[in-house]
Amino acid sequence: MRNRLIVGNWKMHGSMATAVDLIMELEQGMESVPENIDVAVAPPFLHIDEVIRRSSNTRLLMAAQNVSAFEVGAVTGEVSSTMLADIGIRFVIVGHSERRSLFGESNETVAEKFARAYFSDLTPILCVGETQEQREAGFTEDVVLEQMYAIIDRIGIKPLLNAVVAYEPVWAIGTGASASPEQAQEVHALLRSKLASESEGQTVATRLIYGGSVKASNSAALFGQADIDGALVGGASLDAKEFLTICKHAGK
Ligand code: 13P
Repeated sequence: MRNRLIVGNWKMHGSMATAVDLIMELEQGMESVPENIDVAVAPPFLHIDEVIRRSSNTRLLMAAQNVSAFEVGAVTGEVSSTMLADIGIRFVIVGHSERRSLFGESNETVAEKFARAYFSDLTPILCVGETQEQREAGFTEDVVLEQMYAIIDRIGIKPLLNAVVAYEPVWAIGTGASASPEQAQEVHALLRSKLASESEGQTVATRLIYGGSVKASNSAALFGQADIDGALVGGASLDAKEFLTICKHAGK
């Protein structure tokens, strides 16, 4: 049985003071979250170190929102996978649609970042998802599979079998309109079956989490689907009570 995983992606929000307040509130509330639910937060880079120090006694796991595709060296403004691992980061989000659309990250760049994370013993959270236009044109399956196969083509299937894949339909991100549980399940089932068919007999431990307007009010229904192993939460993760309620729903 895969432990469910809930990840809060704080994106580029808040200040040092609000980041500390949020982690303290989460820390207090974690007691009410079942032990078998893994919970992680991805603060802005500038706040991570302080957030780690404030949460060192809890089971809250740390994630980074991004990682460099380069290993080391003269790469101004970048943060490497080894630097992340060095300060205790466990997960790193790669291929988020905001990075694909705002910073032009290609499937190849995302695969490079995934590889860097994997070789530094971080667990990559690979985001895949289609735009509204692609869905309407019937290309949802093609888009998400192309995004996933870019990783397999770069480093093979094994790293994906212990990673996390987040299905985040672009049209559901930040819009308040989540995919329906059935729409999400359909894509998750597709991803799971492709991973199984590529797995060459190895165990498929990949956790498939859903992201896109996840809230306390819709999370229980999403977690009721067979292939939804958790959530990648944006806006609602900035409110400790709301986020903790989502975490608790994962335990039911
Ligand atoms: P929202 O939950 O704000 O829609 O964001 C989802 C997301 O992009 C998480 O990575």
